[in-house]
Amino acid sequence: MLILAIETSCDDTAAAIVRDGHDVLSSVATNQDEFHAKYGGIVPEIASRRHVALLSAAVEDALDRATLDFGDVDAIAVTSGPGLIGSLVVGVAAAKAYAFALHRPLYAVNHLHGHVFAPFLDRPEPPPFPFLTLLVSGGHSQIVAVESPTRMRILGRTHDDAAGEAYDKTARLLGLPYPGGPALDAMAQRGNAAAHAFPRHRPSGDSLHLSFSGLKTSVRYFLESDAGRDAKREDVAASFQAAVVDVLMARLRSAYERASYNAVTLSGGVAANSALQAAFRAWTEKHNIPAFIPPPKYCTDNAAMIAAAAYYQRDSVRADPLTLCADPNLAFELSAA
Ligand code: KG4
Ligand code: ZN
Repeated sequence: MLILAIETSCDDTAAAIVRDGHDVLSSVATNQDEFHAKYGGIVPEIASRRHVALLSAAVEDALDRATLDFGDVDAIAVTSGPGLIGSLVVGVAAAKAYAFALHRPLYAVNHLHGHVFAPFLDRPEPPPFPFLTLLVSGGHSQIVAVESPTRMRILGRTHDDAAGEAYDKTARLLGLPYPGGPALDAMAQRGNAAAHAFPRHRPSGDSLHLSFSGLKTSVRYFLESDAGRDAKREDVAASFQAAVVDVLMARLRSAYERASYNAVTLSGGVAANSALQAAFRAWTEKHNIPAFIPPPKYCTDNAAMIAAAAYYQRDSVRADPLTLCADPNLAFELSAA
């Protein structure tokens, strides 16, 4: 089954063709960073206008690279939420039109479910159910128990900033350009992670929730202090990163010990982080836990992961090409599951 997928939930204009939920024939993602960089973050109106300008070309590019025509596609999938409403509607309107004109089924996918299915791409053996996912991106940070393609439960989530948001804001404090996550990661590799003891959020009781705003504020106060003004930026970056990774791994280990899982996976933009990947690999190798990390191009937003989710969830996410609406606050649980 060949699925043409479209993803425009935030600031990446993406289209992909995926066979049977895992074989990526093409995946095109046009990043808009240059248009948002001078504002230090995503400007929703600019993001929607860029999607309008770029989406048809992205879809045609995805077909060309897969050497296919519209008529070869068996179904259309699109991210219908959550995300920026102005961005979502561009992708949803296009997908409805393609599905209607081509007489193909339309699947409406939750963006976060897409991230959960990223480890299924370009891999002969997908993660075995049930598995545990640490989903860390610019907009979300959560630990998810994935019991089946349509039964997923959030076990813990951030109370405030998402991990990627904490990276981007701290990178800004360090004078790094937007988006700061990859730049901070690179800077941290030249620093001493033990130089500064930034706070690790400890949840009350046995909660699996996360919090990063205290850490970000503590880095800010430190940088404004006399000691901070003289501190090596690389050491501050490495110490901040160590605190984020400690918190994420502590919560993931704790979740894993509470139930029986056949694998653990990482996903979302922050899954591309070198220190998080190293800590994740060290832990899973030590305990012989089957572990899955998508390649960086499938960690950050892309349309191939939306095609994968649509394939595995197809009986539950069929949508009407005349009436589907984008939903910026789309609930995580599938109502039909
Ligand atoms: O999944 P994604 O592309 O978009 C959302 O759905 O939010 O994630 C983007 C986030 C940004 O905050 C970016 O700074 C962060 O992922 N990110 C990283 C790295 N690469 C991307 N954060 C830390 N280290 C990285 N290597
Ligand atoms: Zn995302």
